[in-house]
Amino acid sequence: MTYRLPEEVEALRRAVQELAETRIRPRAAEVDREGAFPWDYVQWLREHDLFALGIPEEYGGLGAGLLALAVATEELSRVDAVAGLLVAVQELGTLPIILAGTEEQKRRFLPRCASGEWLAAFGLTEPEAGSDAAGTRTRAVREGDHYVLNGLKHFVTNAGVAGVYVVFASTDPQRGAKGITAFIVEADTPGFSIGRLQHKMGIRGSTTGELVFRDARVPATNRLGEEGEGFKIAMATLDRTRTNIAAQAVGIAQGALDLALEYAKGRRQFGQPIAEFQGIQFMLADMAMQTEAARQLLYRACARLDEEETTLRRLPAEASRLSAMAKAFASDVAMKVTTDAVQILGGYGYMVDYPAERMMRDAKITQIYEGTNQIQRLVIARSLLDG
Ligand code: CAA
Repeated sequence: MTYRLPEEVEALRRAVQELAETRIRPRAAEVDREGAFPWDYVQWLREHDLFALGIPEEYGGLGAGLLALAVATEELSRVDAVAGLLVAVQELGTLPIILAGTEEQKRRFLPRCASGEWLAAFGLTEPEAGSDAAGTRTRAVREGDHYVLNGLKHFVTNAGVAGVYVVFASTDPQRGAKGITAFIVEADTPGFSIGRLQHKMGIRGSTTGELVFRDARVPATNRLGEEGEGFKIAMATLDRTRTNIAAQAVGIAQGALDLALEYAKGRRQFGQPIAEFQGIQFMLADMAMQTEAARQLLYRACARLDEEETTLRRLPAEASRLSAMAKAFASDVAMKVTTDAVQILGGYGYMVDYPAERMMRDAKITQIYEGTNQIQRLVIARSLLDG
């Protein structure tokens, strides 16, 4: 494993940094305060071709791989986790189509997602099926050349703003995980609507909400893969996309470290900058160590996953383990580092005038979504014990 990333990835990092500093940083506090979806971010990401990163070139994308995606997500999240999430969820919503779609489906959906004309979303979670994703209750029943879907998905990122949703529903409840089937649901599908949008602790500019299916008629040509293949598609997707959440976490941690360093150098107490107190120096040293360790584990996981073909074939245990490790480790680091940043800023850290408290609120979700860190530890332990 090399410690230098490929030059094209570093060039991407510089381009994304510039976008983040010049356009996104001035907007981040407002987006958080208003909790309104930032369509201006979407426009800037489109202009920089950042929605194209994970999509193969033959479908209008850049085919850049998970390492490049991680670096873009990291640099956006360093300034605003909501911006990083836009790139991460485009991958989450399109990867099932890349992994399991027919040629016709790929041609129909991927180019419009690569350009960012359509945002994508991933509807797996339900009120009674969170960590236990195989407990999906949404039903899909075949009727001629359609499937009729009934049920409710919730906690779906990009709900209401996406043009295309990959949704998991049971076509055979007796078969549990093996009865789940994946569908591509277009936003204007009859019988499909958006329910409640959640008010959240963090990532407030991103939408999170319910997908409601009342006799929704999805053409059979929008079924992804075979009946019963849905759980496998979901797991194969999450195995890879968890690195994007790790990247979001590394970015948030780095943003908090940057802020704490700058503050500690400028803030004077007892006649000197607080950065000259060893107590603060040790905190900064730990924050930097933890962030760098998370980053290296993330890059290692991405490089390992990029060695594998993007197919439905199950990943080697060691590759999916690295992905789960990166997600759990980096998100725990983000929570720790942002909490310490608030502490270094003291009373100011607790105020909304500085971004430290926003970063701390945003960090929390990275320990929860795309599989809680308890689920990541389960995946890691199972792969150690089985492998
Ligand atoms: N790749 C391919 N197949 C897999 C797999 C993987 N990684 N993991 C499991 N499978 C297969 C198994 O092989 C098994 O099939 P066979 O019986 O043929 O072998 C089948 O799937 C069932 O597997 P398990 O018995 O291991 O399933 P389980 O019920 O114990 O669950 C789990 C496993 C890892 C806990 C899984 O349920 C899980 O990942 N839960 C978390 C869900 C999650 O991440 N949700 C987040 C949704 S996205 C989001 O957060 C919102 C957003 O918009 C950002």
